[in-house]
Amino acid sequence: MKPTPPFELADLVDLEAFPIDDPTSASYIAIVDGARTGLRAEGCAVLSGFVRAEAVELLNDEVHERKHATHYSTQVINPYFHTAVNPDYPADHPVNTLIERTSGFIPGDAWDQESATDMLFQCPEVARFVADCLEIPALYCYDDPLARLVTNVCDPGQQLTWHFDTNEFTVTVLVQPADEGGMFEYAPGIRSADDEGFGAIADVLAGGRRGVKTLDLRPGDLQIFMGRFSMHRVTRVGETSRPRHTTILAYTPEPGVIGRVERTRQLFGRVLPAHENAELERVRLDTLLD
Ligand SMILES: [Fe+2]
Repeated sequence: MKPTPPFELADLVDLEAFPIDDPTSASYIAIVDGARTGLRAEGCAVLSGFVRAEAVELLNDEVHERKHATHYSTQVINPYFHTAVNPDYPADHPVNTLIERTSGFIPGDAWDQESATDMLFQCPEVARFVADCLEIPALYCYDDPLARLVTNVCDPGQQLTWHFDTNEFTVTVLVQPADEGGMFEYAPGIRSADDEGFGAIADVLAGGRRGVKTLDLRPGDLQIFMGRFSMHRVTRVGETSRPRHTTILAYTPEPGVIGRVERTRQLFGRVLPAHENAELERVRLDTLLD
């Protein structure tokens, strides 16, 4: 049976397998330990079956109801999100390897507070659990009205090509896998803070499989991923496949964070007064600091 509103934590999260409401329990500590091991070793932890099967169906219904709000964009980018050729590097260098990236985002203001999706995002127990896995003191819901809670949509033929993230970590729930393609692949630690790893990156961009891992994520899996040093992609979704839906729970280590105007326009095709006001606030602060 699909849960009905008002939703409670137990409706959404499998608390028997993941007792995130009981952080002193032996089971909680063991799960966090396991996740930390994965995150330390290769920047990835998958909590399989975190969201209950019935609740995943509900999350996917909510995605379908809001699909009309998806903002799609296509860019041709290198792994560092640059879109232009750089004449300082050879043509076959990773910096000059530009690949198409097409996908869509259902923005944060499409979700109402009563939705199961928003409820899952706002559960303090979920944020605390993710913070514990990442070994940071606390996490807060991203305050950005558009980027706070988004669903990434990869329709048939679309892909998220190889890239590094600019944020330290990403928290996602797979809501609907593709039935052809749409696999999450990553090359753990292919670069580090003091080594760009261009040689290995060029191999992977050319189709090499050395060091590349593929995750067979299932609906309801919670993934915590650190994408600064691990190049990753979602492979192209097959032309006759179902779309792939992944909901991104955006948490920040500090409260009250709002995204930049330029980046917001890139991702969502628009900005809200909150973004413009935050930008003005930054200018004012910058003037004071100078
Ligand atoms: Fe990414």
